[in-house]
Amino acid sequence: MASAAKPRLDAATGYEVISPESYAKWDPLLDTFDRLREENPVAWVEDAEGRHPPFWLVTRYDDVMRISKDNATFLNNPQTVVFALNEAIQFAKNLTGGSPHMVASLVTFDAPIHMKYRKLTQEWFMPKNLRQIEGEVRELAVKTVDRLVQAGPEADFCKLVSQPYPLHVVMQILGVPEEDEPRMLMLTQQMFGGQDEDLNQSGMKDLPPEAITQLVAGAVKDFEAYFAKLTAEKRANPTEDVASTIANATVDGEPLNDRDMMGYYIIVAAAGHDTTSASTAGAMLALAQDPEQWARVREDRSLLPGIVEEAIRWTSPVQHFMRTAAEDTEVGGQKIAKGDWLMLNYVAANHDPAQFESPRKFDASRSPNRHLAFGAGAHQCLGLHLARLEMRILFEVLLDRIESVELAGEPARSKSTFVGGLKTLPLRITPA
Ligand code: HEM
Repeated sequence: MASAAKPRLDAATGYEVISPESYAKWDPLLDTFDRLREENPVAWVEDAEGRHPPFWLVTRYDDVMRISKDNATFLNNPQTVVFALNEAIQFAKNLTGGSPHMVASLVTFDAPIHMKYRKLTQEWFMPKNLRQIEGEVRELAVKTVDRLVQAGPEADFCKLVSQPYPLHVVMQILGVPEEDEPRMLMLTQQMFGGQDEDLNQSGMKDLPPEAITQLVAGAVKDFEAYFAKLTAEKRANPTEDVASTIANATVDGEPLNDRDMMGYYIIVAAAGHDTTSASTAGAMLALAQDPEQWARVREDRSLLPGIVEEAIRWTSPVQHFMRTAAEDTEVGGQKIAKGDWLMLNYVAANHDPAQFESPRKFDASRSPNRHLAFGAGAHQCLGLHLARLEMRILFEVLLDRIESVELAGEPARSKSTFVGGLKTLPLRITPA
């Protein structure tokens, strides 16, 4: 297809939709997505200076859903699954000997290999199995809320609750000892918070892209060294946790090779943590802004699942994933060529008024609430039941222990194009 026929975004909007700062500011970006869904729902984003590969930005709910479910036409493996600048892509290729994926994991595999790997842990993440860890999760929730109540009446919810709690849960299911958690926290934040100086642990503002890439590569190496040791332990003494399942798994009769095994640990450790932190903090923000809702759900806990689900939609912690077209095709009336790169923007899709009435409103009674925050199709979030369970249990404990809650300062969002959400949420709490 001729390039001239493509509905190309103007330079300013093209920059806005990939810029980490836009995701921190949030509302102006939602305005832009509203405009794009109307005027240019499948838009061609091409940087005049060629700093990143061009891609199609998909903003309508129906289009994102269709692409997500058609895993034969829209592949994960050929190009990076997370938006990246050319130099980061080149860096990954140099590091891996040609693969654009710094880490090989479920999200970078396509059929048939993807399902073989997914099946290894799928059972483990099902509600039936998760019921067995509910008691442990509740214990962690109680300890976490104790710390918040002791620190009160004013405290940063992110620092004391929404960041450490999902990390504790995911480390527990991976079998990582508590004393190693700070190291894991730092590593996941370096991987995912790479663009935000408060989160990437560098203490440096506006790091150049090559420095961010180095930081991420260092985190991957450190993760690998850590999990190599854990694998040896789990092979010698297998237990019931996910790490034992991965360490002792076979695919087509062969044990996993080092890169695939490390990728598996890393995706569970990394995907299971900052995401749930963001939706948990989002739920708390919505409740702190609406004291009556807090009082209502304290009285009637049947409202809680609606709050959890709406918080996940409203925050959309995973802001996008990328796909590559396996053949010439069409999306929303727009021709897409084989090999084209597409951004499925979950923030935009989850704020599509054609699917969600008053999408910017936090509405815990929204029904149905078929949001795309967990994706859809073959790659739909493996940890979605765990994420919901963690949030439900934490809020049960919070509602038991806290009479009322209000904002005690300005919340702030992280600067990140990929996984994002609140990084500070100052609260004033009144214990029950
Ligand atoms: C995949 C979101 C929590 C593990 C994904 C995807 C999204 C997502 C959007 C990609 C879906 C697609 O491509 O269609 C979220 C959100 C979470 C969350 C919003 C919290 C609110 C978790 C947790 C875990 C986890 C707690 C595990 C401990 C994974 C894994 C994949 C994945 C392993 C890759 C699945 C595959 O490619 O087959 N998640 N996630 N996630 N998530 Fe989550």
